Amino acid sequence: MRAAAFTDLTGPDGVNLVERPTPEPGPGEALIDVEACSINHHDLWILNGASAMIDPTDLPFVTGLDVAGVVRDVGDGVTGVAPGDRVVLCPNETCGSCRFCREGPENLCESYSLYHGGLAEQACVEADRLIPLPENVDATTAAALPTAYLTAYHMLRRAEVEPGDLVFVPGATGGVGVATIQLADLRGVRTVGTSSSASKLDAVSDLGADHTVQGTDPDHLREAVSDIGTPDAVINHLGGVYTGLGLDLMRRGGRMVICGRTAGPTSEIDIADLFRGHKRVIGSTMGTQTDLERLVELVAAGDLDPQIDRTFPLDETRAAFEAMVDRDAIGKLVVTMD
Ligand SMILES: NC(=O)c1ccc[n+]([C@@H]2O[C@H](COP(=O)([O-])OP(=O)(O)OC[C@H]3O[C@@H](n4cnc5c(N)ncnc54)[C@H](OP(=O)(O)O)[C@@H]3O)[C@@H](O)[C@H]2O)c1
Ligand SMILES: [Zn+2]
Repeated sequence: MRAAAFTDLTGPDGVNLVERPTPEPGPGEALIDVEACSINHHDLWILNGASAMIDPTDLPFVTGLDVAGVVRDVGDGVTGVAPGDRVVLCPNETCGSCRFCREGPENLCESYSLYHGGLAEQACVEADRLIPLPENVDATTAAALPTAYLTAYHMLRRAEVEPGDLVFVPGATGGVGVATIQLADLRGVRTVGTSSSASKLDAVSDLGADHTVQGTDPDHLREAVSDIGTPDAVINHLGGVYTGLGLDLMRRGGRMVICGRTAGPTSEIDIADLFRGHKRVIGSTMGTQTDLERLVELVAAGDLDPQIDRTFPLDETRAAFEAMVDRDAIGKLVVTMD
């Protein structure tokens, strides 16, 4: 089978097609004929050699978390899915026995990890992590959901937002950003989204953002967002300066949920404002399989239409990563197999 592998961790030039033996599903596993797999900034961190999640000497490496396709074969002991089933993978990998696996939420698992391997014609996965797809949910749409929409969905839960709340979303145009805008809109939550690009913000307004502010200068954003209102919460996947800025802007008792650091790994915060204002900073990673099941239901019901910027055939996976590096996408980039 063919796979789009990282042969060097030096950016998009390191993405190349390789031939791999078709894997055999072991006990508890299912072999999937992959139809679509979306890419995430998580994969780009790996491709840039900036992720501790993989061994950089163990190349080529096949990434791809967000797998949708058809079950081709199952290993011993698998009863939940059968060959021919259309499925999407929840990429959570958990130990199944720690206190968080026992009591929930599972994404706090002490040995939490993520599945990688979906940028290939076939993928061998844990069968218990497969969610059946209703007939009206196609594989490309389903592949948009697992990382970006799952993370945004879980963050909005952690932010305890309510209808009418105002949420600040720095970087509202990418995978997690657009997902946050759309899912907030579904809950009746108002949003202020930012981007460096005016045209991308126009698209994000069409997708449900109530307010948008173009720019990256923190002082400009501070003033423009304050003119709109006082955010009740911040959904922050950018980290960096957007963290101190979001905390400054947030109302007393507000919640900032952080899942990423695209704009930098550190930020200066006003500690006195944090405690005097009873503000909360909450770290969050991915979500639960139940969250993903709910997202599939929302799509099947016609309530959510994940924003897919473009699809790329497997042999153009490098171009998909180039688009992400160039910040040339609104929403998700999805690789599809023939
Ligand atoms: N912890 C978790 O479970 C988890 C899950 C998902 C994602 N994440 C993290 O969340 C972040 C977003 O992931 P994603 O897949 O949604 O990425 P993405 O699609 O590449 O995000 C693109 C967005 O980020 C903005 N952006 C890109 N580089 C920037 C920079 N240097 N400064 C400011 N803004 C910048 C873009 O703004 P413009 O519109 O201005 O181009 C755009 O809004 C990543 O850091 C990722 O690792 C974490
Ligand atoms: Zn566990």
